[in-house]
Amino acid sequence: MRTLLLLLPTLLGVCWAQYISNTKPGRTAIVHLFEWRWTDIALECERYLAPNGFGGVQISPPNENLVVVDPWRPWWERYQPISYKICSRSGNEIEFRDMVTRCNNVGVHIYVDAVVNHMCGSGAGFGDHSTCGSYFNVGKRDFPAVPYSAWDFNDKKCKTTSGDIENYSDPIHVRDCRLVGLVDLALGKDYVRSKVAEYMNYLIDIGVAGFRIDASKHMWPGDITAFLSKLKNLNTQWFSEGSRSFIYQEVIDLGGEPVTSSEYFGNGRVTEFKYGTKLGTIIRKLNGEKMANLKNWGESSGLMPSDRALVFVDNHDNQRGHGAGGASILTFWIPRLYKMAVGFMLAHPYGFTRIMSSYWWPRNIQNGKDISDWFGPPSNSDGSIRSVTINANATCDNGWVCEHRWHQIRNMVIFHNVVDGQPFTNWWDNNSSQVAFGRGNRGFIIFNNDDKNLSVTLQTGLLAGIYCDVISGQKEGNHCTGMQIQVKGDGTADFQISSRTEDSFVAIHVDTKL
Ligand SMILES: *[C@@H]1O[C@H](CO)[C@@H](O)[C@H](O)[C@H]1NC(C)=O
Ligand SMILES: *[C@@H]1O[C@H](CO)[C@@H](O)[C@H](O)[C@H]1NC(C)=O
Ligand SMILES: *[C@@H]1O[C@H](CO)[C@@H](O)[C@H](O)[C@H]1NC(C)=O
Ligand SMILES: *[C@@H]1O[C@H](CO)[C@@H](O)[C@H](O)[C@H]1NC(C)=O
Ligand SMILES: *[C@@H]1O[C@H](CO)[C@@H](O)[C@H](O)[C@H]1NC(C)=O
Repeated sequence: MRTLLLLLPTLLGVCWAQYISNTKPGRTAIVHLFEWRWTDIALECERYLAPNGFGGVQISPPNENLVVVDPWRPWWERYQPISYKICSRSGNEIEFRDMVTRCNNVGVHIYVDAVVNHMCGSGAGFGDHSTCGSYFNVGKRDFPAVPYSAWDFNDKKCKTTSGDIENYSDPIHVRDCRLVGLVDLALGKDYVRSKVAEYMNYLIDIGVAGFRIDASKHMWPGDITAFLSKLKNLNTQWFSEGSRSFIYQEVIDLGGEPVTSSEYFGNGRVTEFKYGTKLGTIIRKLNGEKMANLKNWGESSGLMPSDRALVFVDNHDNQRGHGAGGASILTFWIPRLYKMAVGFMLAHPYGFTRIMSSYWWPRNIQNGKDISDWFGPPSNSDGSIRSVTINANATCDNGWVCEHRWHQIRNMVIFHNVVDGQPFTNWWDNNSSQVAFGRGNRGFIIFNNDDKNLSVTLQTGLLAGIYCDVISGQKEGNHCTGMQIQVKGDGTADFQISSRTEDSFVAIHVDTKL
């Protein structure tokens, strides 16, 4: 029996490697440093992410892309590849290699946003150039820096009049036609699969730990399997022998479309877009929802299996109205509710968690749509991305929001590490939006999202002692900088949370016991 138990995880580890995050033991969340420069990410790994228990960074696409000047340098230009040279607004290959090495050396791994479904938009014309100056002619489907030529695109395979996806209810349109005009790679061809794998293997050799596969929904699952099967094992300078890339595929499946997330489970994890959409609806209390409805959060509330899910409250698309989820998505623009949502996600055992880290843009909502949704990262007049600067109080400046540095979110990343593997226990709710739960005997969290003050005594599952709340403050030396919670001999504690307070939740864990 004992041998069997010991063998099982090893076997699973070998067969199911693509679901394993490759984060260091005890590091259980990654952060998307959207549009950051490689030099800034290297510094952030060393000065902040490693000391605070972050497991990794999802980076913006590192490969050469189309330079879009109208509108001026939008973030989405990076989703229009020109070649697989490591050369983008975030930096060159030397800076990229330096970032990967320095982050890996402090135990923070790099996850690449791989844009391999398509190349640039079919409308890119003469006079347009690329971030590294590589020649291309999209009209002729000529990308000599890869090289790809007309044979390598799906133009003949797609049966729509426009060449674009016209009917999202037709899975063949969705996979074989152009997504918003982006020229669609023929991933059915072994040559194209080999070029994609060559690019990904180049990054694996540099030392990356895995990939977000952009626009996976627009590729046939079997084509993804084919290029993934060509990938090498991870670099043994930082990963154990035989380690495979962590894979998470961007599939937007909110239900009601023929292409479903489950078709992609064989290849790796899948982005669970229902997570942020539903959690936002509940925390905003739309449609009569209340936090008490989170009691059965997870597979039984309609989400995909936990071990296949990559979860997030918002991402770079839906925080600005792109992608999916619409008005219910919570973002840094609504900090009070956003912190509760991220706090809930990081306290709960479901899925593998990703934190969003954003930049400010001049949001301008007209008739429900943000007309500034294209705005790129903070930049100088020559288009170069501005450095992230750090204030004396550890927050970011120069246009960067850095949600991951908000102390409530940072401390909940640590909470998530501390309670890893513990069961979901001691649920309590008042049949409204005051809820609480524990994670075995290692952590406890309580929320008041009602209009009434909360005052209640609850079983925490923790040993008797005085614990520092990690939302109003934290433990520093032998005292709490915020609220203290006394857990009595029977494991219960009294909680009071005003409905008016900016941070209307309290979280304690074993590492904050005085
Ligand atoms: C879209 O595709 C679906 C599935 O093939 C089909 O049933 C439907 O009629 C199509 N709609 C249009 C407008 O062509
Ligand atoms: C941190 O410092 C900056 C710059 O001085 C200030 O604008 C900001 O409000 C401070 N934030 C917090 C949470 O103290
Ligand atoms: C809980 O609240 C719902 C309305 O949200 C109500 O219908 C139900 O009766 C309440 N249950 C209890 C036990 O109070
Ligand atoms: C929620 O619980 C609080 C006590 O913590 C109570 O005052 C309030 O009335 C409750 N709300 C509902 C709807 O039961
Ligand atoms: C709720 O708590 C706040 C802060 O403790 C207090 O100022 C307020 O009077 C309380 N409201 C009610 C209705 O008890």
